Amino acid sequence: MSRLVVVSNRLADPRKPAAGGLAVALGESLARTGGLWFGWSGTVDDAAGPGEGQVHMRKAGSVTLATVDLNQEDFATYYQGYANSVLWPVFHYRLDLADFHSAYVDGYRRVNRMFAQKLLPLLRDDDTIWIHDYHLIPLASELRALGCRQRIGFFLHIPVPPPLILAALPHHPWLMRSLLAYDLVGLQSQADVSHLRRYLLSEMQAEELGDGRFAAHGRELRLQAFPIGIDVQEFERLGAAPEAVQTRTALHQEYSRRQLLLGIDRLDYSKGIPQRVRAFQQLLEKYPENRHSATLIMIASPSRDDVNAYADLRQELEGLCGAINGDYGDLDWMPLRYIHRVVARRRVPGLCRASRVGLVTPLRDGMNLVAKEYVVAQDPEDPGVLVLSRFAGAAEQLQEALLVNPYDTEGMADAIQTALRMPLHERQQRHARLMERIREHDVHWWRRSFLEALAAPAPAILNPPLE
Ligand code: G6P
Repeated sequence: MSRLVVVSNRLADPRKPAAGGLAVALGESLARTGGLWFGWSGTVDDAAGPGEGQVHMRKAGSVTLATVDLNQEDFATYYQGYANSVLWPVFHYRLDLADFHSAYVDGYRRVNRMFAQKLLPLLRDDDTIWIHDYHLIPLASELRALGCRQRIGFFLHIPVPPPLILAALPHHPWLMRSLLAYDLVGLQSQADVSHLRRYLLSEMQAEELGDGRFAAHGRELRLQAFPIGIDVQEFERLGAAPEAVQTRTALHQEYSRRQLLLGIDRLDYSKGIPQRVRAFQQLLEKYPENRHSATLIMIASPSRDDVNAYADLRQELEGLCGAINGDYGDLDWMPLRYIHRVVARRRVPGLCRASRVGLVTPLRDGMNLVAKEYVVAQDPEDPGVLVLSRFAGAAEQLQEALLVNPYDTEGMADAIQTALRMPLHERQQRHARLMERIREHDVHWWRRSFLEALAAPAPAILNPPLE
């Protein structure tokens, strides 16, 4: 059997709190298959020059972790710059927040080339290589340029915007053409597939061959949606463990006469956090019976805080939360509990289970695994209600959630009120249907179906190396 080599910018580090769904999902996938996991060490080290990071190897169970440090300039241009100040906002439809600099794209190319150079000597002939996310789009073309002939698949964890938004990216022809070096490109949703398909046809003059196959520049590209899932069994196990149970019991005691609403996100402008707070305020205004009885716990863990847009968001949110607590709070009740810290993953199932409403309301999101975790954490006899943005990739699968438009403050307040008042039998029915789908399409299904598709026979057109 071929060894699996996973490459992602962020790795799960058991010594540090989990940072985002990607690292958790890849960690859970690799725990089953074993293999090599290659990426950034999370360390910025100036001992090396730009593009010259040192590789560290260590074992974590059946997985070998190979990580590279980044020099300060690489970190600033590749990670903070091109990845998080250009690709992240553009792919989340936020051209207004994109900060285009030529130094950023140079750093991005340099680090992708360095990753290719450092990874190549670690590869075996029959490895299957699986590259993840927007930080590493050109990695396969860099590997191919060095003579790598193994199968290479790519999975994009974030959304693909419509073609005209992508076309606003100054280097989009180069960036998108580098996708042709992959044998298979996986996306989160059908909406993403349809956007990339339209881009290929209109901007790359690709020819559509059917079954998600396209021909362009003498190469063939396969495109397919593989919605990522969670490790349901592992999350259930976590939910039964003492720390989750203690968290749940403590919250039940503290809020015995109140209803809890919960949001857990990275502090990111794509997550629609201020919009959610405004909808909560609207709930208190329009449905005053919730004053003194509803409390929103908002956990927004720190993320990319050196990037300006993130610092601005933090300020906005702190002002907003302070104002609402000041205006509506009382000696015995505060409407909002805003926590700008990482909450240990072991406590998450307990927090979810103690909450009557889970608010997952991003403005745009590739998938959003918190939505799935919230559902799995519920008591099937007395489940809470998921209020989910229709702009999260998860909405394509989780149709029995209460789907909302996060830009519509009043509509969202009405949906929260419906969730708080939803009768037991309706909550049970919706929960059972959601559970079925989440269980069937779990993280192991995702890994298996992607890798099976990647192993399928080679394309009809023999892919020549990209020049
Ligand atoms: C999103 C991205 C991941 C990223 C995660 C955390 O989920 O798709 O690639 O790892 O956010 O962000 P960070 O910048 O801390 O890695």
